[in-house]
Amino acid sequence: MKIFLDSVDVAEINQIREMGLLGGITTNPSLMSKKVSELSAQKKLLAEICKAAKGVDVLAEPISPEYDGIMKEALEFAKISPQIVAKIAMSPDGIKAVSALKKKKIKTALTLVFSPLQAVSAAVAGANYICPFVGRLDDIGQNGVDLIGEIMGIYKNYGFKTKVIVASIRNNNHILGSAKHGAHSVTIPFKLVNELLRHDLTDAGIKKFIEDWEKAKTK
Ligand code: G3P
Repeated sequence: MKIFLDSVDVAEINQIREMGLLGGITTNPSLMSKKVSELSAQKKLLAEICKAAKGVDVLAEPISPEYDGIMKEALEFAKISPQIVAKIAMSPDGIKAVSALKKKKIKTALTLVFSPLQAVSAAVAGANYICPFVGRLDDIGQNGVDLIGEIMGIYKNYGFKTKVIVASIRNNNHILGSAKHGAHSVTIPFKLVNELLRHDLTDAGIKKFIEDWEKAKTK
């Protein structure tokens, strides 16, 4: 399983890369809006992110909902680095853009996926990735992790090559559930990385080792 970082913060990206955990980066307009407010600044930040990410895929999301606008932005982003993957919201125009970008050999991801049939359509259109959102399904009273099981089962039935990056991850159960269903990747916010690594008994064990060693020194 690959761990993607859901972040546009270069310092966060550097930290996770140095830990050896960085499998890719996902960005979105909401994250971008916290750092930049126009396209040229966004492209500059994406270039810095690609450099910090050192070779792994960086998913960059056009804001336009219409085909022509999606294509224009995606082609601009693709010029930044071969690491760039055009991350496009699921819609008829989005699917059309994925097909067109595939012909131009630009990697794509379909995002805002909430149903198995959206996932099937994305795979048929040839998207490299899909991003199903588990937390937002939980928010409306559905079980987001169950969607991942359904998608992985269907993808296996047909041998689809599209990779699943589970998004809208809010807690360790989302990560564990995704792993149990064999999802290819999860994308997680920086603040969840420590939770992934932590266990109360690990913390207690480290404390006890240090205490015992300190006691031995005073004997
Ligand atoms: O990658 C998408 C993710 O950032 C959305 O998360 O918590 O806003 O549903 P959330």
